Amino acid sequence: MIIAIDGPAGAGKSTVCQLLARRLGYVYLDTGAMYRAVAWALEIAPGAPGKTAGALDDESAGKALERMELRFAIENDSLRIFYGQMPLCDELRGPGATEAASRLSRLPAVRQFLVAWQRRLAGQGGGIVAEGRDTATVVFPQAELKVFLTADLKTRAARRFEEYAAKGLEVSREQIERLIAERDRADSNRDHSPLRPAQGAFHLDTSGLCVEEVVERLAGKARNLA
Ligand code: DC
Repeated sequence: MIIAIDGPAGAGKSTVCQLLARRLGYVYLDTGAMYRAVAWALEIAPGAPGKTAGALDDESAGKALERMELRFAIENDSLRIFYGQMPLCDELRGPGATEAASRLSRLPAVRQFLVAWQRRLAGQGGGIVAEGRDTATVVFPQAELKVFLTADLKTRAARRFEEYAAKGLEVSREQIERLIAERDRADSNRDHSPLRPAQGAFHLDTSGLCVEEVVERLAGKARNLA
């Protein structure tokens, strides 16, 4: 079974999807991490083409991605990302990669490259919980369960604030709220695969709910479909 969960930044997707996948014994596919990895490789890595050659257009990003040794794999039911031999993880979570991922995810060449990888990874068999912005609308329109997870802006900003504080990153609540609102606008208004609820998606507002409640509701939906 494919469960595809989309929604804006800070709606609680990552935590919920990770726990849901573990509960069901499914693979957890974090497609946002894949956009972050592409952004990191194109603009932040040592010698990245976006650093040496300036802002990349669609064609140059596509060509650079073909040449790059960026690789994705599923290990122990979760996504692993490699740049050459180097595993990528924490470097994908900084503000630089976050901003670049939102900007570069507008490019069709980037989306095509990653959608192909996402379908290949899902084709390896077994159940999958995919999370992102277009997993139910574009990547897996055949998903048995489609979910649109939201939360109000204040709640989402407060969650990000806690996450950043736990990592020792100093960003004010107001700044986070502004960045999230900007990212929502960019993700929802881009030409290619904008953030939208898929037709027939189950809408869930997580503002007043704890993680366990959300996971339980989604696990219940999945059980009813199995
Ligand atoms: O979920 P996230 O914050 O890690 O995603 C980072 C960026 O990647 C987000 O601003 C938009 C983009 N993204 C996308 O365009 N499509 C996806 N399926 C997942 C993420």
